[in-house]
Amino acid sequence: MQEVINYIQSNRESYIEELKEFLRIPSISTLPENSDDIKKCAEFVADKLKNAGMSRVEIFKTEGHPLVYGEWLGAPGKPTVLIYGHYDVQPVDPIELWENPPFEPVIKDDKIFARGATDDKGQVFMHIKSVEAYFKTVGSLPLNIKFIIEGEEEIGSSNLEVFINNNTDLLKCDTVLISDTALYAPGLPTLTYGLRGLCYMEVEVTGPNKDLHSGTFGGSVANPINILADIIAKLQDKNGKITIPGFYDSVTKLSKMERDNFKALKFSDKKYAKELGVAELKGEKGFSTLERVWARPTLDCNGIFGGFTGKGAKTVIPSSATAKISMRLVPYQEPKKIAKLFEKHIKQLAPKSVKVVVRSLHGANASMTPLNDKATIAASKAMEKAFGKKTVYAREGGSVPIVDVFGRKLKASVVLMGLGLNSENLHSPNEHFSLKHFQLGIKSSALFFNEYSL
Ligand code: BES
Ligand code: MN
Ligand code: MN
Repeated sequence: MQEVINYIQSNRESYIEELKEFLRIPSISTLPENSDDIKKCAEFVADKLKNAGMSRVEIFKTEGHPLVYGEWLGAPGKPTVLIYGHYDVQPVDPIELWENPPFEPVIKDDKIFARGATDDKGQVFMHIKSVEAYFKTVGSLPLNIKFIIEGEEEIGSSNLEVFINNNTDLLKCDTVLISDTALYAPGLPTLTYGLRGLCYMEVEVTGPNKDLHSGTFGGSVANPINILADIIAKLQDKNGKITIPGFYDSVTKLSKMERDNFKALKFSDKKYAKELGVAELKGEKGFSTLERVWARPTLDCNGIFGGFTGKGAKTVIPSSATAKISMRLVPYQEPKKIAKLFEKHIKQLAPKSVKVVVRSLHGANASMTPLNDKATIAASKAMEKAFGKKTVYAREGGSVPIVDVFGRKLKASVVLMGLGLNSENLHSPNEHFSLKHFQLGIKSSALFFNEYSL
């Protein structure tokens, strides 16, 4: 084992150079103009898997972006680990706020800056390099490994779900290892055991059949923006409770054990507020900040448009207005059911003076992993060895849609060994990844293979 760790240590610089190549490919999954980059990126991952020592590597076409699969099954009788991650990234706008171009990686203060650095290319690359380190030193792996790296995580993973349903034998494994979450604090080994789900909706309000002069017509018809703003405001009451009837029906109470665990993490509201530049925090009454973000469902407007949004002033009553609204869900809430309740409630809130269309864009179930699982225990030991500190257990407010599918369809446990930080600007300008954590992640991954094989 020590030779693997030494090898990882002495190749720090070359790993960073290779990661830069990965980060130079603008694999934005949501934009049609980047579809060639997506293909190029899938090929890049496939090449790296081959060079790392995987015996079979294949790119699978889907209805959307390609999936990259790799395997090495040379350890009969030993467990099989399926490593999942995503090579697609979020769009870069607002581009003017980037200090360096998003696809020209630069290193500052031992951090690598580029779109996808922490979410998720840097974290995917850790596992490719740990596998490679085993082959370059020991010459084999202590257990069997499969990789499935997708290009559609940021747009909901719907084609991967189809692929899993049709290929349960190919993906058969004992545990799924995923690095696409965050450490609770820098240098603190963390395993995430819960993710929230998602229900993403769009509401379009239409009033008059064309834009109108706001002087000539102001006072005679409903303004779709005003109506939409009123509807959004009514979705939460003054205590921050969501007003959709039935919304909380399947939400369970937090156990005393979890409450105590959250408390033990010593979260500071003051520090958090300061980092985000807000005078005070806000949310559902009666719950701590960690509880609200990790274990309670929430509703947020993600974008709103309509009417005149250019510079200067234009006097107009717009014909229509649209809002994108997402709800983060907790275990047992079903995205499809929530979408229906949402639609019904919106229709009830809308006055006769406008037409309302409600669309469901995508959804994902929340997920929870038991902490007494063999793979989780091995991961905890591995991280403890790599970091030289005791592992903490955290939940996460974000979503990784496919995690719940892995559990249900492959009947495998899931280990969320994330090495990112929530302060690393994922989805926003100047995304970066700590190179110290990158190195610790490669070691944690290698140590995990050893621990889990014992
Ligand atoms: N890696 C993130 C999820 C995440 C964020 C985990 C922060 C831990 C900390 C993932 O790539 C992501 O952005 N998921 C989306 C899913 C959606 C687009 C279907 C999310 O949570 O918004
Ligand atoms: Mn991610
Ligand atoms: Mn993401």
